[in-house]
Formats: sequence, C-alpha cells, structure tokens
Amino acid sequence: MLVSLTYCSYAKKTIDSELMSDILAAARKHNPEQGITGLLCVSHNIFVQTLEGSRQQVNQLYQKLAKDSRHHSLTLLDYREVEQRRFANWSMAEVMLDKVNASQILRYSTHAKLDPFNQPGSSTVMLLEALADSGTTQFRH
Ligand SMILES: Cc1cc2nc3c(=O)[nH]c(=O)nc-3n(C[C@H](O)[C@H](O)[C@H](O)COP(=O)(O)O)c2cc1C
Repeated sequence: MLVSLTYCSYAKKTIDSELMSDILAAARKHNPEQGITGLLCVSHNIFVQTLEGSRQQVNQLYQKLAKDSRHHSLTLLDYREVEQRRFANWSMAEVMLDKVNASQILRYSTHAKLDPFNQPGSSTVMLLEALADSGTTQFRH
C-alpha cells in the first residue's frame, strides 16, 4: 500500500547549499533502496517535504527525520493512502522556493511567502504538486 506524507519544519540554522547537499546525499543514498520518492522544498528557514512509499518505510523515515537535530517543530500537514505516486521520477526532488515566481506561491496562499504552519495542509500539498508539474524541481535520482 502506497502512502504520501507531507510535513513542514524549521531549520535550526540558515539553510545553505552545504546543508542541502548533505540532506540530498542521504536521500539519494537511502531512498531508492527503501522505495521512497518525494520532494523537498525550502524557503528561508522552512522545510516542506513530501515522502511517498510503503506505509512502513514512510513511517520509519518520518521517525528518523523527527530525531534529526538540523530541524525542529516538525508539523504533520497531510497523510493519505494514494493509488499512485506524484513524484515517481525523483528519489528526492529539490525546490528552492525563493527562486520560484512569487505568483506560483500566491496561487495557493494568502501571501507570496511560504507559510505552511499557518495555512491548510491541502493548499501546501497543491503548491508542491504544481511546482513539480511546472518543472521548477531539480532532478535528484
Ligand atoms: C529536512 C530534512 C529532510 C531529510 N530527508 C531525508 C530523506 O528523504 N531520506 C533520508 O534518508 N534522509 C533524509 N534526511 C536525513 C536524515 O534525517 C538522516 O540524517 C540520514 O538519513 C542519515 O543518513 P546516514 O545514516 O547515511 O548518515 C533529511 C534530513 C532533513 C533535516
């Protein structure tokens, strides 16, 4: 059974390219063998991530992430059983949201700034799907 889990969190320190490289290297190393795919979106000091895969593997990874001291205040936005993956092409796609056209964020939010902690989880999920569809993601196999 496939599930999809989306959460947001605050980075402990400023998200820079070194931090992103470390995270994505771990994702590239572990996710394919666990059958996990997904998308990691960052904006300022906020992470939003969707994890897709079997219920067991997604739950295991979420628990591992919750213990990672590089971020805090993990907040579950959306959890559902799905018939198919949204991000099947990526072991973990990456979106640097601050480089994306503000109108894309505005379409799903009250402000042109990502604020997943204070808006419906469904809006954030739709934004992530739209970002993936619009090709703003970077490939990470
Ligand atoms: C925001 C964020 C997203 C992460 N995403 C993943 C991921 O998709 N897959 C993964 O294996 N590790 C991910 N990590 C890293 C894990 O928490 C953990 O550090 C890593 O899997 C350990 O890998 P290692 O055993 O090779 O050192 C993420 C960490 C953070 C802070």
